Amino acid sequence: MATKTAWGGRFTQDLDARASRFLASVDVDSRLAEEDIEGSLAHAEMLCAIGVLKAEDLVAVQRGLGTIRDEVRAGTFPWDAAKEDVHMNVEAALTAREGDVGARLHTGRSRNDQVATDMRLFARRSCGEVGDALDALASALVTRAEHEVDTLLPAYTHMQRAQPNRLAHHLLAWVEMLHRDRGRLDDAARRMNESPLGSGAVCGTTFPLDRARTAAALGFDAPTRNSLDATASRDFLLELLAALSIAAVNLSRLAEELVLWSTQEFGFVEMADAHTTGSSMMPQKKNPDVAEVVRGKSGRVVGDLVALLVVTKGLPLGYNRDLQEDKAPVFDAVDTVRDSALVLAEAVAALAFRRDRMRAALAQGFVVATEVADYLAAKGVPFRHAHEVAGRLVARALEDGKELAQLPLAVYREAHALFDADIFHALDPEVAIERRDIPGAPARTRVLAAIADAKARLAARGAR
Ligand code: ARG
Repeated sequence: MATKTAWGGRFTQDLDARASRFLASVDVDSRLAEEDIEGSLAHAEMLCAIGVLKAEDLVAVQRGLGTIRDEVRAGTFPWDAAKEDVHMNVEAALTAREGDVGARLHTGRSRNDQVATDMRLFARRSCGEVGDALDALASALVTRAEHEVDTLLPAYTHMQRAQPNRLAHHLLAWVEMLHRDRGRLDDAARRMNESPLGSGAVCGTTFPLDRARTAAALGFDAPTRNSLDATASRDFLLELLAALSIAAVNLSRLAEELVLWSTQEFGFVEMADAHTTGSSMMPQKKNPDVAEVVRGKSGRVVGDLVALLVVTKGLPLGYNRDLQEDKAPVFDAVDTVRDSALVLAEAVAALAFRRDRMRAALAQGFVVATEVADYLAAKGVPFRHAHEVAGRLVARALEDGKELAQLPLAVYREAHALFDADIFHALDPEVAIERRDIPGAPARTRVLAAIADAKARLAARGAR
């Protein structure tokens, strides 16, 4: 006669101590306690509705899980690594407190559909949370943009001064990227919103579970359609991690720009003391650490995506224990992107723009050279020829150590007969910007409309 073991009658020996420690995941997945309890409550209620669980058993389950949830929230729940994972810990605690009903709760359910359900609930919630954090950053940028409509600076391509721009238009570019980042999270949340409960370990269950009922109770659109897929697939998490990786890379780019703009060489921004640090050796230093660490942490998020891609790539159907490794990367990526967005939102709200430095950068570097070419093209000169003429004028200005606006009209006329005195008007950066009056361009009214549009989109989401 076999002795009683943790895994029941099939086993004569308990799990080796080192193996047990190695397999245990509760240190990581205890974070799913809320989702696990939520799923169990829905399952129990449904079991009662189909007559598998007595009404008084349901009451006991609800009472037991309720106290367990309270203890988890209070941080007093006695997590036990010997009980392997969050599911076993919660179930064992329920059985210890409420007796046999704890053992009945698992009727028609496996940890395979249970954990898949928990992760979908967690991932769905995370999409909303991270999305809100991205929106907070977008809101901070829009608020700054509203006050910088008339702040002019060069736009860059290849890191070379390219054309005059409004700071508001520049800031709104980041807002667009954040808007898409949020959209990707919303898309992923929609697609993952199906309930695996009832898929069992791999091929469903013999109990006549009401899957639509548990799906509805948990806010899922419908039950999943295939039990193997539901228990063995984690592409909903890959999608989340991919969306988070793209968002992290976008945050990193924004952070990099803050680092660059904080340099003495640029000097376009000064980050607040609250988001910078000094040096233990060099008393003059004010380092943009918050931005640097956001930039650095993006590497971990991309690593999280790669980790789960590699975990899943060789797995045949159905569930394999390798899938337990899905949690750490998902938790890490969610936390990292949410925290990065929130800290950047505060840093952006608090930083100072050096309008004088931005404006001064416009005065050098021939940022209005395109205007010279456009001027001739508007008078009928083929643009390629006009571009050639403007290029020669830039070369001449370089030779003379002047800016384009400082060359005399005679030099312009020498270059092309169609130049008149109004060319100097066209070379005013403000005029150059205002003439870019098409959708998506930085003319003042276009930027004001873009700000209103960005605010409306953010408000519509806030209202949801
Ligand atoms: N901790 C496991 C996981 O995260 C739960 C499912 C375990 N299933 C099993 N058959 N051992 O994947």
